[in-house]
Amino acid sequence: MLRILSFCLVLASFALGVPVAKSRQKVLLISFDGFRWDYDRDVYTPNLDTMARDGVKARYVTPPYLTITTPTHFTLLTGRYIENHGVIHNMWFNVSTGEKKPYYQTQFVNEWWDNGTLPIWITAQRQGLKAGSLHFPGTASSYQGEVAMVRDVEPRFYNYKNETAWRENTDKVMGWFRDQDLDFVSMYFGEPDSTGHKYGPDSPQRREMVKQIDRTVGYIRDSAERHGLTDRLNIIMTADHGMTTVYRNGLVEEIVLSKIPGFSFSDLSFHLVDFGPSGMLLPKPGKLDKVYNALKGSHPHLHVYKKEEMPERLHFAKNARILPIILWSDPGYVINGYLPVQFHKGEHGFDNQEMDMKPFFRAVGPAFQKNLEVGPFETVNIYPLMCHILGIKPEINDGHLNATKHMLASAATTQGEFISG
Ligand SMILES: *[C@@H]1O[C@H](CO)[C@@H](O)[C@H](O)[C@H]1NC(C)=O
Ligand SMILES: *[C@@H]1O[C@H](CO)[C@@H](O)[C@H](O)[C@H]1NC(C)=O
Ligand SMILES: *[C@@H]1O[C@H](CO)[C@@H](O)[C@H](O)[C@H]1NC(C)=O
Ligand SMILES: *[C@@H]1O[C@H](CO)[C@@H](O)[C@H](O)[C@H]1NC(C)=O
Ligand SMILES: [Zn+2]
Repeated sequence: MLRILSFCLVLASFALGVPVAKSRQKVLLISFDGFRWDYDRDVYTPNLDTMARDGVKARYVTPPYLTITTPTHFTLLTGRYIENHGVIHNMWFNVSTGEKKPYYQTQFVNEWWDNGTLPIWITAQRQGLKAGSLHFPGTASSYQGEVAMVRDVEPRFYNYKNETAWRENTDKVMGWFRDQDLDFVSMYFGEPDSTGHKYGPDSPQRREMVKQIDRTVGYIRDSAERHGLTDRLNIIMTADHGMTTVYRNGLVEEIVLSKIPGFSFSDLSFHLVDFGPSGMLLPKPGKLDKVYNALKGSHPHLHVYKKEEMPERLHFAKNARILPIILWSDPGYVINGYLPVQFHKGEHGFDNQEMDMKPFFRAVGPAFQKNLEVGPFETVNIYPLMCHILGIKPEINDGHLNATKHMLASAATTQGEFISG
């Protein structure tokens, strides 16, 4: 019904000689890395509160597992679970050579990102729209030879905290919408993740950073207004994952793999550990059961799974890049390899069922209802929602518009759309 109605509106606007493109709505997707769903509860956030009154707020959203930055951002751009889009880790790695590339360098490894799933920029452009991206993970890569037409790739050693730079970036993006008539832009802020890691999610430093983000939310909405975009721009704000406190220094019995009886790194040909609460192991030929049996049940807060027995709900198994043994720890714990070498006070990467891993979600603009609080939904559903507002046909994805469409205002206000998924 909604579809038919809006299709009629499109026909009506043709009949009236109004170009459809004029009424097409725009979408700005913003990620504040590591903004946990409840970070507005212990901080005065007048701008986030105003945004909730003017639009929609979800109680929280559920990210895909593995709850780390690169894979979960690619889910926002594609609507696919991580096992389906293939960008399974922050780090590119090669199990034959043992080579690993850290987060920043991995941004530039095309084969890692371009693994068969198209991000929304490319899909939008193929359907005649214009897309851009500022600092969002995946921006530097090309997909089937195509890139987002306007790009600002995050510089190396970027200062994530600089509020002046945040404002300049905001005005830059609003300028893209107004002057180059972009339809979709994704924009990334590296906070409050960095502060949450360094000082912990319960620290005064994290609360200060949330105040900075709140000021920025106000600035973003003012900038949209100054650029004359308010009646056509929809702003969606969310994050990739949450954050939880890590315990150590004798408070808990830490997980150190090298200390586990019967486990030996010499039985492995490749491993990814010392990466917060998650790990993946590739045992040498014939050693899988030995490694598995040594680790399984060795620590009450360590979960050990063979790839084929991973809980289905995590959607983190059915991909050739995922290694045969998957490890994760309970909140409070991280997985150390040889020695405890991790010093973050806050971490993410845990089971996506943990409340501390849940991000926030806000949306405001002509497509959205006002002053509406909705229940939780999975972040795979943000992609079909964005495609619907933009009026583009989505790629195959793991989300459903029916999980988010109750947030939309009446069909009359989403006149740009004519196809939905
Ligand atoms: C890993 O490195 C080997 C040896 O250089 C190479 O043959 C293989 O294609 C590489 N695999 C990936 C996934 O890059
Ligand atoms: C995805 O990457 C894997 C190697 O990691 C490769 O074998 C596979 O062919 C790639 N698939 C596509 C569609 O690019
Ligand atoms: C913050 O960003 C502004 C604008 O880009 C720049 O002029 C300034 O030097 C930066 N400050 C720091 C401390 O990085
Ligand atoms: C949404 O649609 C899908 C596919 O048709 C269905 O499996 C799912 O149960 C629906 N969810 C809701 C909340 O209606
Ligand atoms: Zn992150």
